[in-house]
Amino acid sequence: MIAVIGSGYVGLTTGACLASLGHPVVCGDVDLDKVERLQRGEVPILEDGLPELLHAGLAAGTLEFVHGAVAAAERAEYVFLCLPTPDGGDGRADLRIVHAVVAEIAPHLRPGAVLVTKSTVPVGTAAEITAAVDRPDVAVVSNPEFLQEGSAVRNFLHPDRIVVGSDDRAAAAAVAALYAPLGAPAVVTSAASAELIKYAFNAFLATKLSFVNAVAALAEAVGADVAEVTHGMGFDERIGPRFLQAGPGWGGSCFPKDTRALATIADDHGVPFPVLAATVTANELAKDHVADKVRRAAGGSLAGAPVALWGLTFKAGTDDLRDSPALAVAQRLAAEGAVLTAYDPAIGADLPATADRPAIRVAADPYRAAEGAAVLVVLTEWPEFRTVDLARVAAVLDGRTVVDARGVVDEDVAAAAGLAVVPL
Ligand code: UGA
Repeated sequence: MIAVIGSGYVGLTTGACLASLGHPVVCGDVDLDKVERLQRGEVPILEDGLPELLHAGLAAGTLEFVHGAVAAAERAEYVFLCLPTPDGGDGRADLRIVHAVVAEIAPHLRPGAVLVTKSTVPVGTAAEITAAVDRPDVAVVSNPEFLQEGSAVRNFLHPDRIVVGSDDRAAAAAVAALYAPLGAPAVVTSAASAELIKYAFNAFLATKLSFVNAVAALAEAVGADVAEVTHGMGFDERIGPRFLQAGPGWGGSCFPKDTRALATIADDHGVPFPVLAATVTANELAKDHVADKVRRAAGGSLAGAPVALWGLTFKAGTDDLRDSPALAVAQRLAAEGAVLTAYDPAIGADLPATADRPAIRVAADPYRAAEGAAVLVVLTEWPEFRTVDLARVAAVLDGRTVVDARGVVDEDVAAAAGLAVVPL
C-alpha cells in the first residue's frame, strides 16, 4: 500500500497515477470537504486527464481518500509527502506543514516504512526528517517531482527520468522500483543531491526564460524578431526548441519561490550565485516591458484607458493564478490608471483587488472583453486565442493595436482585420 499525504495537484496526480500503475493507493488530506468531494469523484483542480484516472482508480478500488495524514500513513509501506512548501516571506521555503505532518505520522508508521518527500524542500530536509522521525527502521527518500501544472498526468506517465535520493540506497532503489512500469531511467543519488537537483532544475529553466525575455527586449531595440531568433537558436540540441517562448515573465507556484529559495540557500552557504539574482531581476523587467508596450499602444498614457486582457492564469491549461505574470502586468497597468476587463477560459468571476493585484472585471468571452478597449493585450497562451475571429474583435475594439505577449495572434490575419499586432 502507498499513502500519499496532501491532495493538491502534485499529491492527486501522484496518487491517481501510481494507482493506474497497479499500486493500491490511499490519499490522506487534512481538508475534510476536499476529501469528501474526491471520494465522490470530484476533482477540485483543472488538470488534464486527472478526472478520468481518478474515476478509474475509485471504480477499481485501487485509489481511496481518507481524512487526515495518520489514517493514510499507518496503512502503508511507502508514504509520499506531497505537502505545500510556500515561500516563508524571507526567501526560505516554509517547512512548518512538512515538519508538523512528519511529527504527527512518525509514531504511526509501520515497521520498515519508507517516507518519501515529493515536496520541493531545501537541501538537508531529508536529513532533518530522518532525525525527527528518529526510527532506525524507517528510511527517508527524496523523490522530487517534475510535473507541470496542466500536463501533470502526462509528465508523470512519461517522465524523462525518475530521481530518487537517499543515504539508504536500498530504500531509494525500492522507491525507483515503484515507477518501473514507466520504463524511465532512474537517477539514484544522495538525499542532498536529489534535493538540489529540483531547485537547480527549476532555476535553470527560469534562467533560460529570463534570458529569452531579455533577448526579446533587445530584439525590439535592434529591429530583430525574437521568434525568429529563438527559432534559430533552438535547433542546436544543446539549447533545444522547448522553453524558448518569450513571454510576460515566468510565474506560477514553483519558479518564483524556488528561484528565491535557491538564492537564499546559496547565500546561507556563502556561495556567490549572481546569475540567479539576475534571473529574478530580469523577470521583473519582462513584466515592465509588456506594460511599456501597452502604454505606448495607448498613446503614451494609461490614465483612464480601458484595456482588455486575454488571459489571467500564469499559463494556459491551468486555473492557477498564483504569481501569475498576467496579474503582475495588470497591476502595473492599473497603477497607471488603466481600467481592466479580462477574459480567461478558466476564470469565471470578477477578481477583487488584493495586495498584489488590481480589481479586474471578467467578461464571458474574448469579444466582450475587447469591447470599447483602447488596447488588447494577450497575456496567456490559451489555444482558443489562436482561433478567435479577429474581424469580430476589430469591430468592437476601440483602438487598433493588439499587444501579443505570448506570440499567439496571427499578424497577417490581424492585419486583414485592420489590427496591428505588437509582438514581444
Ligand atoms: C514548473 C516546472 O516546469 C516543472 O517541471 C516543475 O515540476 C514544477 O514547476 C514544480 O516545481 O512543481 P509549472 O509551475 O507548472 O512547472 O510551470 P511551467 O510550465 O514550467 O511554466 C512556468 C512559467 O514559465 C509560466 O508562467 C509559463 O507561462 C512560462 N513559460 C514557459 C514561458 O514564458 N515560456 C516558455 O517557453 C515556457
